[in-house]
Amino acid sequence: MSYQNILEEIENDILTITINRPKKLNALNRETIQELHEAFKEAKNNDEVKVIILTGSGEKAFVAGADISEFADYSPKEGKKLAADGQEKLFNYVSNFPKPVIAAVNGFALGGGLELAMAAHFRIASDNAKMGLPEVSLGVIPGYGGTQRLPQLVGKGRAMEMIMTAGMIDANQALQYNLVNHVVEVDELKEFTEKMAGKIMKNSMVAISEAIKAINANYEDGVNGFEVEISGFGRSFGTDDFDEGTSAFLNKRKAEFPGK
Ligand code: COA
Repeated sequence: MSYQNILEEIENDILTITINRPKKLNALNRETIQELHEAFKEAKNNDEVKVIILTGSGEKAFVAGADISEFADYSPKEGKKLAADGQEKLFNYVSNFPKPVIAAVNGFALGGGLELAMAAHFRIASDNAKMGLPEVSLGVIPGYGGTQRLPQLVGKGRAMEMIMTAGMIDANQALQYNLVNHVVEVDELKEFTEKMAGKIMKNSMVAISEAIKAINANYEDGVNGFEVEISGFGRSFGTDDFDEGTSAFLNKRKAEFPGK
């Protein structure tokens, strides 16, 4: 499919989705959110895609937030709908995506941009990246999951401080806060992230999918993550990947997972 606001590239089983509105620092308008939703939906059923890397166009921004010009005159009802639709179509969709999603944070990740990076399964940042949730400086609160995912990653006190001050932290502070897993030089970000995707793809993608589900269950109200883990563990025993993984180990050879 062709899109106006995002670019897609599939190489070595990795789909790189680049948010491409550099003149607006890749701000997320409704159209971009819809296109991202479509791209992820397509990637779910595309066997050529094993891992997704999400990044921003240019070296200045990953995503500088939700597009402020779009919601400046919204009513409370419209505001609520904007958050609900966005969470359903993109942020929760990415978080619960059955294939690994890595955010390669290549510059400003602010507001909805940081929320999108936090919805990804983990984050790798370039050393020029800057992150923050500045919504209260606009008289609004984070609406794409930021009040929930930021404390999960950095702890309640730091999340309170970041959200209340509307300030930005740099990549090294984000690393110290566990908001990102790695910081690399800007021109190494693509290669480093692809290498990480390569490491992941050596393993059973079916098992990884079950692991994503079980890990996410820890953060869902009313869901017993231990039970989800037990079910996923059990299901793994019925897969071709399990047969291959165990037989390869016992026969002292490298596993070639069929991905089923
Ligand atoms: N929504 C809409 N447009 C945005 C945007 C956003 N979140 N972030 C940046 N832009 C636009 C700017 O309006 C500007 O457009 P223009 O050239 O048509 O005037 C363009 O992107 C470049 O941004 P600019 O502010 O000129 O770049 P800068 O280097 O001076 O500042 C930032 C960079 C990120 C500090 C600044 O753009 C900013 O504060 N953006 C908003 C961040 C924010 O509050 N996000 C949360 C939204 S809920």
